[in-house]
Amino acid sequence: MANEQTVLVFGATGNTGASIVNGLLDSGRFKVIAAIRPASKDKPEVIQLRTRRVEIRLADLNAVDDTISEVFQGVDVVISAAEWKTLPVQKQLIDAAKQAGVKIFIPNDWATPCVRGVRKLYDEKAVIHDYIKEVGIGYTFVDVGMWIQVAFAPAEKSKEKYPGQFDLWRTIIGKGDVKSAFTDIADIGVFVARIIADPRTLNEYVFCWGDEATKQEIFNIAEKFSGGKFEPIRMTIEEKEKIVEKSRAEGGVMEALHEYEYSYWVRGDNTIENAKKPEYGSALDARELYPDIKPRSLEEYAREFYGKAN
Ligand SMILES: NC(=O)c1ccc[n+]([C@@H]2O[C@H](COP(=O)([O-])OP(=O)(O)OC[C@H]3O[C@@H](n4cnc5c(N)ncnc54)[C@H](OP(=O)(O)O)[C@@H]3O)[C@@H](O)[C@H]2O)c1
Repeated sequence: MANEQTVLVFGATGNTGASIVNGLLDSGRFKVIAAIRPASKDKPEVIQLRTRRVEIRLADLNAVDDTISEVFQGVDVVISAAEWKTLPVQKQLIDAAKQAGVKIFIPNDWATPCVRGVRKLYDEKAVIHDYIKEVGIGYTFVDVGMWIQVAFAPAEKSKEKYPGQFDLWRTIIGKGDVKSAFTDIADIGVFVARIIADPRTLNEYVFCWGDEATKQEIFNIAEKFSGGKFEPIRMTIEEKEKIVEKSRAEGGVMEALHEYEYSYWVRGDNTIENAKKPEYGSALDARELYPDIKPRSLEEYAREFYGKAN
């Protein structure tokens, strides 16, 4: 196709990256390249990508050196969506991409709107935003709220398998009346295919979302579609603050998880309204940019999820 953009995706076999590749391929508007680490080049997912005419270029984000610039040759747009541990190496990717003439770098965000000093993972991503602006490469920052896939607890048959996860899910902090935004992971590729072809999103922050609900509303939806009754564990804001503090001392994944929960269920950072505020980055609303996209709602997801899980 004439004038088609060439898009390179890091993390193309991961949760977010796979959806992005699907959206790009389904749109039929892009030449798609996946940057795959050498150890994974024969994985079934990578073979599948090859059969879908995705070009494979090899790059291990744990061992980035000068040769990384070869990966960016002929690329217009880079989308970074590999696992979160690879966030810091993005600085080297940005330098190499800029040198190779990449026009747009979409960093590894794909999360909830926030301000600095609340969540360490957000702060780490904000450092990359600063670096992108300092280097002067074109960019679009994209957030998605929480994935709808983490909104609901496993229903009756499966919840015994995940007691820790289940208790975390059924915990309602405070009154449970704080709204949070969600996107079905399957919809993000559809949004991204539109965003990268849209000049209005150049050097902007775009917020994609499918639905918004409080924890109590999510409980109500879960009960409606599972046919069961979920007994909440009630927790005060002070109790959650103590848990966050303890998890910060321990660090790692639990720290990220509890900081996330505090941010969206207590502070209420993860809302469409906040994403648009200047202090959160003045996001463009992807639903306003692309009103024809009909992302899946929490109810639509729950209907299918509890149908399968029970
Ligand atoms: N909004 C939400 O609710 C939510 C939830 C979870 C995550 N996130 C965010 O989404 C973003 C992506 O996370 P994810 O969960 O989608 O990631 P993920 O599924 O954990 O990503 C795995 C991908 O990263 C690749 N990868 C890992 N190490 C690599 C390396 N050294 N070199 C090259 N590729 C490597 C893997 O390749 P292999 O095939 O080689 O293993 C795979 O493609 C992160 O920024 C994360 O914070 C958001």
